[in-house]
Amino acid sequence: MPAKAVEKLNAEAQPGDAIDQSLRPACLADFAGQPKLRERLSILLDSARARSQPLDHLLLSGPPGLGKTTLAHILGAEMKATVRTTSGPAIEKAGDLAGLLTGLQEGDILFIDEIHRLSKVIEEYLYPALEDFRIDIVIDQGPAARSVRLNLPRFTLIGATTRAGLLSAPLRSRFGVAHRLDYYSVEDLTRIVRRSALLLETKLEDSAAPEIARRSRGTPRIANNLLRWVRDYALARSGGKAGLDAVTAALEMLEIDQNGLDEMDKRLLQALTGKFKGGPAGLHSLAAAVGEEPGTLEEVHEPYLILEGYLQRSPQGRVALPRAYEVLGLQPPASQSSLL
Ligand SMILES: Nc1ncnc2c1ncn2[C@@H]1O[C@H](COP(=O)(O)OP(=O)(O)OP(=O)(O)O)[C@@H](O)[C@H]1O
Ligand SMILES: [Mg+2]
Repeated sequence: MPAKAVEKLNAEAQPGDAIDQSLRPACLADFAGQPKLRERLSILLDSARARSQPLDHLLLSGPPGLGKTTLAHILGAEMKATVRTTSGPAIEKAGDLAGLLTGLQEGDILFIDEIHRLSKVIEEYLYPALEDFRIDIVIDQGPAARSVRLNLPRFTLIGATTRAGLLSAPLRSRFGVAHRLDYYSVEDLTRIVRRSALLLETKLEDSAAPEIARRSRGTPRIANNLLRWVRDYALARSGGKAGLDAVTAALEMLEIDQNGLDEMDKRLLQALTGKFKGGPAGLHSLAAAVGEEPGTLEEVHEPYLILEGYLQRSPQGRVALPRAYEVLGLQPPASQSSLL
């Protein structure tokens, strides 16, 4: 599939996109999958409600499209709290942060997306706000400069990041526990696809839902985007009925891989099996070969490939497994056959 198309499939819908909003589960009970995380969050919610206090600050991490933003809004709804949304790169100056924090009401949730992109200076300002609910701002410059302390209402910071490894140690420690979202099983994605089909009023046959789920790379956002394409295809070509045949034809038209791998996954496997002769290859060499940042490969792409048994991390570097050759239509080298 061309890189553009893949990007589009995992592209976040624009704010105000009514369809995306309508597919976003609004309460924890409607949030499929992630059983361990859901249980932990419901404990945090019960505890906060029992104490009649806001939730403690929390960090959600994991690859794109797995539900971090969705969960932040669900936590807001469950706490009946207002969620104010911003993102790391949007907070450029200390004044931006001060404005955001002083505008909060008691119990509000401040959601900072891409929190790993906050600058060091802003992080320093954030620490006392998180720990003691106060912020010290410097007004004026030169000899007249003085620091003014502002007290803040008790609020909850929810940070989201696709790159937990880039978070500074002091910021990470302010959050206590980091909650990581994992890729979804085909069963959980099937449930998500069925629920979304109902909401989109699409006549999706029971047998067709797992077909979409299997090709969604463990990612609800991709599953929903594929489903929308299937709906369009069914309306245009098969009178609105999305049976297994229509779904297969629709997905083939998008040249979606049977295994749901995206362009970068394939490029990585091609480099590893070709240029690096199956590995072991170092992360940085691999990243240079595919033209991606090492950290993005490590935190966004590799986890899925490891989970699905395409590659392995060894102390010497990344190693291609037989399944990597299989998916590329290649013959594994003799030394690999023993792994089959
Ligand atoms: N557990 C879930 N159950 C049902 N639908 C889900 C679930 N998780 C995510 N979705 C759907 O997937 C879409 C993408 O989720 P979301 O925007 O929360 O991902 P994200 O982790 O914030 O991604 P990014 O890192 O790109 O910001 C949502 O609009 C929602 O419809
Ligand atoms: Mg998000």
